[in-house]
Amino acid sequence: MPRIAYVNGRYVPHAAAVVHIEDRGLQFADSAYEVIAVMNGHFADEAGHLDRLERSLGELKIALPMPRRALRLVMREFVQRNRLKNASLYMQVTRGAAPRDFKFPANVKPALVMTIRPASFGKLVARKAVTVPDIRWKRRDIKTTALVAQVLAKQAAIEKGAYEALMVDDGGFITEGSSTNAWIVDKSNNLVTRPTQNNMILKGVTRNAMQALCKKEKIKIVERPFTVQEAYQAAEVFTTAAVSLVTPIVEIDGRKIGDGKVGAVTSKILSSYLAYAADPEQKQENWSAR
Ligand code: PDD
Repeated sequence: MPRIAYVNGRYVPHAAAVVHIEDRGLQFADSAYEVIAVMNGHFADEAGHLDRLERSLGELKIALPMPRRALRLVMREFVQRNRLKNASLYMQVTRGAAPRDFKFPANVKPALVMTIRPASFGKLVARKAVTVPDIRWKRRDIKTTALVAQVLAKQAAIEKGAYEALMVDDGGFITEGSSTNAWIVDKSNNLVTRPTQNNMILKGVTRNAMQALCKKEKIKIVERPFTVQEAYQAAEVFTTAAVSLVTPIVEIDGRKIGDGKVGAVTSKILSSYLAYAADPEQKQENWSAR
């Protein structure tokens, strides 16, 4: 089946989809993005992702390329044209194309592109991780395409036979994964995850959904920074993100986590999220992109 991409108002064959050579996304990473799971024909956490896109663009002072209602229609048309029920949708908005100059260009329209690929959900695949220094800028709350630090982190993981890189701040605390939020289950069976204050990590939409679900499941969440040592000694470690959903981390830096198998809390969290995502209503409590 031919893959279709969306480029500034046009649906084009994926292989023929191109952007301008002076697109500011290309030259400055002057752009924001979202990855959204399409699960059984429904967008998982759509409101959360669109709220965050609007917020990222607001922080970058880039205008939304079209009103949200129109964007939602385009997303639906796009999925339909690709005839996919389970997929990963990538959406990117850049400040637009203009001769290279750092200052904002005048009278330039933001550029919107979307790509999509098939995905499957619901399997817990045990993974290894390594820790790497977090070398990113200080506005990690904005989902910009300036991801080269994460590219290097992920590659370092791959080269050590691992799947994810857990990034570590100067104090020895894990900030987040290269493209995921990080969680540990402590000795008292509480879930621990880093707070999103001070813009030092991305406020994950999946992370947020998990928080609401844990409340329902009566799993206690403690929001506090945790160290690499704590992660080594945790009962369970997992990461969350759109599409990959919940990923059990059973080894970090060559050290086995817990008994080295997928843990009970991790399994419960994934089941709970799958049930939630299967409900097209997806009522989230207290969601805020801030
Ligand atoms: N990454 N932290 C970082 C640094 C991320 O890049 C992501 C998502 C997350 C999880 O956020 P969410 O639950 O909203 O997907 C946390 C996406 C999936 C990516 O870049 O492919």
